[in-house]
Amino acid sequence: MSSHGDPIPMIARKSAGLKGEAHVPGDKSISHRSLILGAMAVGETKVTGLLEGQDVLDTAKAMRAFGAEVEKRGDTWHVHGVGVGGFAEPGNVIDCGNSGTGVRLIMGAMATTPITATFTGDASLNSRPMARVTDPLALFGARAYGRKGGRLPMTIVGAEAAIPVRYATPVPSAQVKSAVLLAGLNAPGETVVIEREATRDHSERMLTGFGATVTTEETSEGRVITLTGQPELKPQTIIVPRDPSSAAFPVCAALITEGSDVLVPNIGLNPTRAGLFFTLQDMGADLTFENMREEGGEPVADLRAKFSPNLKGIEVPAERAASMIDEYPVLSVVAAFASGKTHMPGVKELRVKESDRIDAMATGLRASGVEVDEGEDWWTVHGRGFGDVPGGATVQSHLDHRIAMSFLVMGLATEAPVRVDDGGPIATSFPIFETLMTGLGADLGREA
Ligand code: S3P
Repeated sequence: MSSHGDPIPMIARKSAGLKGEAHVPGDKSISHRSLILGAMAVGETKVTGLLEGQDVLDTAKAMRAFGAEVEKRGDTWHVHGVGVGGFAEPGNVIDCGNSGTGVRLIMGAMATTPITATFTGDASLNSRPMARVTDPLALFGARAYGRKGGRLPMTIVGAEAAIPVRYATPVPSAQVKSAVLLAGLNAPGETVVIEREATRDHSERMLTGFGATVTTEETSEGRVITLTGQPELKPQTIIVPRDPSSAAFPVCAALITEGSDVLVPNIGLNPTRAGLFFTLQDMGADLTFENMREEGGEPVADLRAKFSPNLKGIEVPAERAASMIDEYPVLSVVAAFASGKTHMPGVKELRVKESDRIDAMATGLRASGVEVDEGEDWWTVHGRGFGDVPGGATVQSHLDHRIAMSFLVMGLATEAPVRVDDGGPIATSFPIFETLMTGLGADLGREA
């Protein structure tokens, strides 16, 4: 499945109970950061469990273009880093494909080194806002030249003599926070990021693991994260945990498909990522955390999800949004099978993801017989209850992997099949989605 090739039409049909174990791939956020921080360390970082989705492969290619050696031997990825400030000027345009995380983090990582790089992506990425990252990078002394509205393709001219920055993020975004912290690595003194709402904290944890000094303080202003610049990053051995955002798909599929009992082992429950699972429990899902333990400083559990015919619609707390921001599309599918309304406020960020996710989901849900109300930063799904969701639509994935997977999950439990115009984007984050789901007994696949 390629996000750049011909469209791959897919279909999902009502399925018998899903059974078995779902071994989902490595965490996308941690995979990008492993490669980027590995490239900025001095010496060889070894990574196992890396997500080999197109987004991460594009970041690997980019790190090579900036001078790091990145190769896979056996099951291990080896990243030979060039040190903080050691990036070479790429000889060609950096194509980050579909990945907002890739491009924004890499822009941050190169912005305080005196080199110039030009970035581009696919039609989805080239329509996404980059000013949220280039505004704070300008404070370090970097310059950005892009298309109207701060869109890619865009050239970043790195600062000659970077100065440290104190920056309060105007939107809740781990990508923006991380871009500033990565830029701060090659600035003298302390770089400070202040975020009003806590977003995923993988950068803070991993920077500390690589030997940087990072402190986080909860204050009345919000979370204040302080990085001491110009450290020597020490290479690490990283075992990438499995991705809770990918686990969401087999978990939600099991909840809405009659007779299901699925175990999804080794899923990180970092509180900045696990909001969906608590929301599903609030809705009455038969979802349990087995074998709770700690691995690499993170809470980890095996998730067991069983068919849950009596789901109830709820008010999803707005303050939980950042911890489940990628999971709203598949949550809206589960909400369609619940009784009553599920109201999801505080989610403006969904409008600037790989697609406008409120619009993409609302359109496909309505075409499948589900009523949806929406405003700029909220939406409400009117649940129809199990056994009463018509389906039968052909929906557009808009180059968005999570839209494609969400509607394929929905089709496993609707009365009529659900078709997705292009499942190609699924390869960006979950290349084994089709095999994993059919292995559990899901009736989904490519249309002839
Ligand atoms: C990510 C942050 C989130 C998320 C994306 C991955 C990251 O984006 O949607 O899939 O790895 O930092 P924002 O930071 O823009 O919310």
